[in-house]
Amino acid sequence: MKGIWTYRSIWATSIPQDMVTMGEGHTPLIPARRIGKAYGIENLYFKLENTNPSGSYKDRFAAAAVSHLIHRGAKICLATSSGNTGSALAAYCARAGIPCFIVVVDGTPTAKLEQMQLYGAHTLMVKGFGLDTDITSRVFEDLRSISDAFHTEVQISAYTYSPQGMSGVETIALELAENIPGQFCHVFSPSGGGGLTLAVGKGFVKWKNHHPDFIIPRLHCVQPNGNNTIAGPLRMRKDKAEPLPGSTTKVSGLQVPGVIDGDQTLEICRTLGGDGFLVDDEMVFHLQAQLALMEGIYCEPAGAVAFAGAIQAAEEGRIAPSENVICLVTGHGFKDNGMFRRMKTVRHQYFEQMEGVSKYINQIFNNSHNNQ
Ligand SMILES: Cc1ncc(COP(=O)(O)O)c(C=O)c1O
Repeated sequence: MKGIWTYRSIWATSIPQDMVTMGEGHTPLIPARRIGKAYGIENLYFKLENTNPSGSYKDRFAAAAVSHLIHRGAKICLATSSGNTGSALAAYCARAGIPCFIVVVDGTPTAKLEQMQLYGAHTLMVKGFGLDTDITSRVFEDLRSISDAFHTEVQISAYTYSPQGMSGVETIALELAENIPGQFCHVFSPSGGGGLTLAVGKGFVKWKNHHPDFIIPRLHCVQPNGNNTIAGPLRMRKDKAEPLPGSTTKVSGLQVPGVIDGDQTLEICRTLGGDGFLVDDEMVFHLQAQLALMEGIYCEPAGAVAFAGAIQAAEEGRIAPSENVICLVTGHGFKDNGMFRRMKTVRHQYFEQMEGVSKYINQIFNNSHNNQ
């Protein structure tokens, strides 16, 4: 089976015998057909992480983390999540047959909570968790003592807490490295606490250790303005990420006001010639809709953040026409039930009779034909 385990000799610190897997990874890298030219990016590609089994790149994390837990004999999985880590862990725990308890960010979207619950996980929402830095740190500390009592390890998708799981995420870079189009390349990655971007950077460095001729792409960190902990400091040439008292972005998954993996993320982006980009929530929501309309890519808002950063880079003249641009599309649109409400122009048509259907199709076809 192709997927993250194909590369296990590169990323896995120990190789479990009994892997818990659903074929995660090996996601498509597709060229844009229309949207790249519309936004001034000639050679644009999307890495479709939304095609993973539970709908986000976190399946790479969960497969590695749950395999590790089973290997060390843990009987339960204890985790925190803004949605995608929880859904992924819940799915892999269901497959492994161990109970899964997830402390979720206050305000986690319903679709993500329901997904976790359908896999049989226990979702536990704590007021202010994930939004307030002090409450969040306290939850992390308390969970650590609970996990000690149950002889398990808390799963949080960051190197600071769960390096085994995070090393599975490095496979995004390994797959890209093997399939990268052309030599000069930019990779745009969305960041909350920075773990994903750091994993991609680490993956590229590991690939280079095995393939000295490989030219590592420039790795850029993109954050919503309301969660500027890494991208701003990176751009301002600072050495450290900066925590916020709270996150104000509405982009679920990227509301991480603490620094977590931020310092290392900033460092690796700088080392790999990347920069930081800050994007508005409104632009992200707009691009989420455009990706669906122009490319058939249905992603959650966080999945459109990298593309928003790439557009900013193109507008600032940072991308040469010959260079390739890869944007990570990190999570599926089914996880965000707000998109339909935001796209106010979408209407459901209801007809008393079939004649109305034919009239409607003709009218829409003629309008679009005349506008071409
Ligand atoms: C869809 C999505 N994209 C990107 C991220 C990146 O997060 P981080 O920088 O915290 O690793 C997350 C994290 O939850 C996510 O759910």
